[in-house]
Amino acid sequence: MGRYTDNPQAVAALVRGREVHRDVYIDPEIYRLEMKHLFANAWVFVGHDSQTPNKGDYFTTQIGDQPVIMVRHTDNEIKVLYNRCPHKGTKIAIDRTGNTGKFFRCPYHAWSFKTDGCLLAIPLKKGYEGTGLEDQQTGKGMKAVGAVHNYRGFVFARLAEEGISFDEFFGDSLSSLDNMVDRSPAGRLEVAGPPLRYMHQCNWKMLVENQTDTCHPMVAHESSAGTAVQIWKDLGYTEDDPKPPAMEIIAPFMSPYEFFENMGIRTWPNGHGHTGVHHSIHSNYSAIPGYFEALTETYGEEKAKAILSENRHNTVYFPNIMIKGPIQQLRVFIPLAADKTLVESYIYRLVDAPDELLARTAMYNRMINAPTSIVGHDDLEMYERAQEGLHADGMEWVNVQRLYEEDENFDEERVENGTTERQMRNQFHAWVKFMTADMTTKEAAE
Ligand code: FES
Ligand SMILES: [Fe+2]
Repeated sequence: MGRYTDNPQAVAALVRGREVHRDVYIDPEIYRLEMKHLFANAWVFVGHDSQTPNKGDYFTTQIGDQPVIMVRHTDNEIKVLYNRCPHKGTKIAIDRTGNTGKFFRCPYHAWSFKTDGCLLAIPLKKGYEGTGLEDQQTGKGMKAVGAVHNYRGFVFARLAEEGISFDEFFGDSLSSLDNMVDRSPAGRLEVAGPPLRYMHQCNWKMLVENQTDTCHPMVAHESSAGTAVQIWKDLGYTEDDPKPPAMEIIAPFMSPYEFFENMGIRTWPNGHGHTGVHHSIHSNYSAIPGYFEALTETYGEEKAKAILSENRHNTVYFPNIMIKGPIQQLRVFIPLAADKTLVESYIYRLVDAPDELLARTAMYNRMINAPTSIVGHDDLEMYERAQEGLHADGMEWVNVQRLYEEDENFDEERVENGTTERQMRNQFHAWVKFMTADMTTKEAAE
């Protein structure tokens, strides 16, 4: 037990308005406390219900460091269970996805469980008669997580039995998810294939902060996006010439500071926020034939226009996902250690929309987020350098001060200049809140 365990004051002292202590990124004890407190008390993204369309379909993942199974129960509801046999702990499901039929069967001694976790049968059950098994947690079956909420297909869970409600946790930030789903003429999304997976040797929060870091694209991505723009010019094209889809995607990364300042950043309570309030790097993609017509048929022209005029850039849902509504992406930053993060980047099909939209979405994911991308590498290099650089002694604090104001109130929604680091401060404010929500003090623990 180190100095932060059962010491909420010490944890809270790591965040002080304009700066945060390096231990939040590099200290293994802080990482363990994040798993135990932050990821248990917050609502964490699990998966999309189109990953488990049929009864008995399951998907294995983790919430923080907790292995879980998302499964469609016989009543068609999505359940989230700890991936652990109540008998001796064996993981019940190993495959990433599959169909288990009406029940799970443990591969070790064949105890079986309904898809809501309830114990179904034990071989040679008479050996437990009179032993009181039914009164124990073991006798009840696989344990379900504290709470699950399916919001328009997106499944979130809270590990803790008690805590903040889904609606209070997300509040008005759900408008970004709404816009992504509303872009489907059927009002429905479907996950399109497995995610791109990319391992990063850095802390998970660096990736989350980067999603609203608007002062880095024109600098860190000059090598990739800048080169593409230069080649475009060298070929004799101008800014206004129609661009092929790949150029439409990559050129806006080189937009000047002014573009990002004017695009705006909105912050919501509990650590959520988004860039691209007024416009974004996704605003000027060319129209796909037939799409607007399909949307208009569903919503009417006025609403269809309103849906498409919302071009939010990156929406961060605290603690560890980001979505891009206009291009139907969702990225999960899965913490594996203080200095190790797995990134999974999903794309979604807009049900009843033309296929060209999915082609562009897939192209974006490959170009920007894939381990074989040309843009994601720029960011990776910066994160990994930061993770190493933070070990330099003599300076212990990381700066998050841009456009800082005294007495910032993170309980209110705000729209600010698009280069503010307010959203990073908002995340750290929420970080302290959920880290310390159920942390006992040393005195109480003794
Ligand atoms: S460990 Fe699962 S049935 Fe024994
Ligand atoms: Fe970047």
